[in-house]
Amino acid sequence: MDEARRWLRAARRVAVLTGAGISAESGIPTFRGQGGLWRQYRPEDLATPEAFDADPKLVWEWYNWRRSLIAKAQPNPGHRALAQLEERVPEFCLITQNVDGLHERAGSRMVVRLHGDIWTLRCTHCGLSCKNEDPELGELPPRCACGGLQRPGVVWFGENLPAECWQTAEKASRAAEVFLVVGTSAVVMPAAGLAAVAKNAGARVIEVNADDTPLSGWVDASLRGPAGKILPELLAA
Ligand code: OAD
Repeated sequence: MDEARRWLRAARRVAVLTGAGISAESGIPTFRGQGGLWRQYRPEDLATPEAFDADPKLVWEWYNWRRSLIAKAQPNPGHRALAQLEERVPEFCLITQNVDGLHERAGSRMVVRLHGDIWTLRCTHCGLSCKNEDPELGELPPRCACGGLQRPGVVWFGENLPAECWQTAEKASRAAEVFLVVGTSAVVMPAAGLAAVAKNAGARVIEVNADDTPLSGWVDASLRGPAGKILPELLAA
């Protein structure tokens, strides 16, 4: 912990990759592990373009349930610690796989959302995107003014990440002197590969996770515990 703290204090360029674990203490379920969403549901039934084509109402019911959980959640000390870190690092980039928007609500500004935004709806017919932060969407599936079906503005399995976001994330990872990986099982590519991009370009990689991950063996520091406790300790001035 002490060494990781020193690296962070000295760094002028920091990139962070977060996953569902950072929002766990806000009451939002993760995907894998105990209580994880993919223990109760099959991703291929709910998070693929084929699933949406087969049963858009079912997919929307699941997203609507997640939207209602997220609407009630508050950012936790882990989100807030990262927002404070941004204030003191000259070049900072927060890359997240989360779609919940809690980083922004905690005050983070430079956020790259690799997997989209659960509060955005996108028309499958005309392509128009619009923000809708009302957890109650009324009749499902929702429809665009053009009459087309709207889908959640998130990235599903089998889909490409938004190209511009990916380029920004890769560039920040390559430039980082310190790369923090927080609360991700690091199994979903290409996001998980950013830690290797950073390390190969010379960054110190620090992992914060409640459990071991495939990255734990080769990172420079692996800090075990809840992000809401470890991050404030790590970033304490
Ligand atoms: P996962 O659910 O795969 O992993 C969550 C990680 O958080 C695990 O490694 C846990 O050990 C860790 N964790 C749990 N609670 C924690 C806490 N309080 N503090 C720190 N760590 C904690 O979630 P992601 O890695 O984000 O993609 O999953 C990646 C992608 O897979 C998601 O973006 C989503 C999912 O399927 C799509 O839907 C496309």
